[in-house]
Amino acid sequence: MELKQEGTILITCSAGLVDYVRQEIEALGYEGGDYHKTGLEIQGDLCDAMRLNLHLRTAYNVLFLLKQFKCYSPDELYRNVKDLPWEDIISPAGYLSVVGRINTEYVKNSMYANLKVKDAIVDCIAERTGSRPDSGKDKDKVVVQFYWKDNFCRLYLNTSGLKLSDRGYRRMPHKAPLRESLAAAIIMATGYEGGEPLISPMCGSGTLAIEAALIASKRAPGLLRSNYGFMHLKYFDELKWRQMRNDALKKSKTRGGKAGFKPAPIIATDIDAEAVEAARKNAMTAGVSHLIDFDVCDFAETVIPPEPGIIVMNPEYGLRLGDMEKLSHTYKRIGDFFKQKCAGYNGYIFTGNPVLSKKVGLRTSRRIEFYNANIECRLLKYELYAGTKEKTD
Ligand SMILES: C[S@@+](CC[C@H](N)C(=O)[O-])C[C@H]1O[C@@H](n2cnc3c(N)ncnc32)[C@H](O)[C@@H]1O
Repeated sequence: MELKQEGTILITCSAGLVDYVRQEIEALGYEGGDYHKTGLEIQGDLCDAMRLNLHLRTAYNVLFLLKQFKCYSPDELYRNVKDLPWEDIISPAGYLSVVGRINTEYVKNSMYANLKVKDAIVDCIAERTGSRPDSGKDKDKVVVQFYWKDNFCRLYLNTSGLKLSDRGYRRMPHKAPLRESLAAAIIMATGYEGGEPLISPMCGSGTLAIEAALIASKRAPGLLRSNYGFMHLKYFDELKWRQMRNDALKKSKTRGGKAGFKPAPIIATDIDAEAVEAARKNAMTAGVSHLIDFDVCDFAETVIPPEPGIIVMNPEYGLRLGDMEKLSHTYKRIGDFFKQKCAGYNGYIFTGNPVLSKKVGLRTSRRIEFYNANIECRLLKYELYAGTKEKTD
């Protein structure tokens, strides 16, 4: 096994986002192979894995396949894992964490399977080098991940470590924030590329506006992070990584956050001054605050630029926050706002509550399926033109 050679890379994502991951990997020049609800395979080497970590907006983790094998017992798991040249992958002075996803009758306790994998790696390195790496739960160094389903096991290096959706800019999460990868997929679903105004009333901690600004400025989201799992592997090619980062910085129209590029207006507002303050700080951390205009106001008072664009809203939907009666009124007001003030725009509402979405009272032109923390959601599209039709059914 040689990580510098091509192998199978599995890109994981949350349910419903695999089509967006595919879109992204194809834009990067890769061909998507087998896929399922929460993951997609491609062929590539460790440099490809680094590149994917740097550029992907909608993925969770980039996993490099080390080995796959039939497995009928924890002892067989141990033997198969120990068989790899771990001393070439992890330094004896390093630290590793093991994550197992187990759905098999051949082991009762998933913690026991994790322990077997950890022991196999540590024992292998100790036997061949005389010292043992540390291990524990932290995912900020080497992460080994395995899936044991029925009698089949796949063993991977998780080259991301922490999830890619943890970009690191959201120091102030505020209430019910969207995961960054989901917010990026929502923006992609609207077709936004930066050429038209993007309005985010009810912005909360600013995730939609910040992801839009990152997309508009072609800023690789991975530039925001300084630590990845692959950096702790013995194969890590630091020079290559620096070159990749520099290339990505050159392509980014913000050139490391300096002004000089201004997309069409991106406007983020919220009625809660604390939310807007959090959004502003998060945008600063992300290096895009100069691309977003913030304001504290009721959504209906948001100033809408005259040229047509995109307006995207994520109101509370009653499952975690807010109460239904008040929210019914809010959704009806969103419909009125769209109709009266947003002519020429494409309006979008992201919601997990079909009862509330009916209160908007306008005809949807698309209903795009998403999941937010296992709640089935929809991104509802409304084409708003003077005289937009109200829903009659
Ligand atoms: C579900 S949160 C939005 C979360 C956001 N997408 C994020 O990622 O952080 C809904 C937001 O709507 C705001 N809000 C509620 N009623 C509002 C109103 N009438 N006008 C403007 N904002 C409002 C709340 O303050 C809250 O920040």
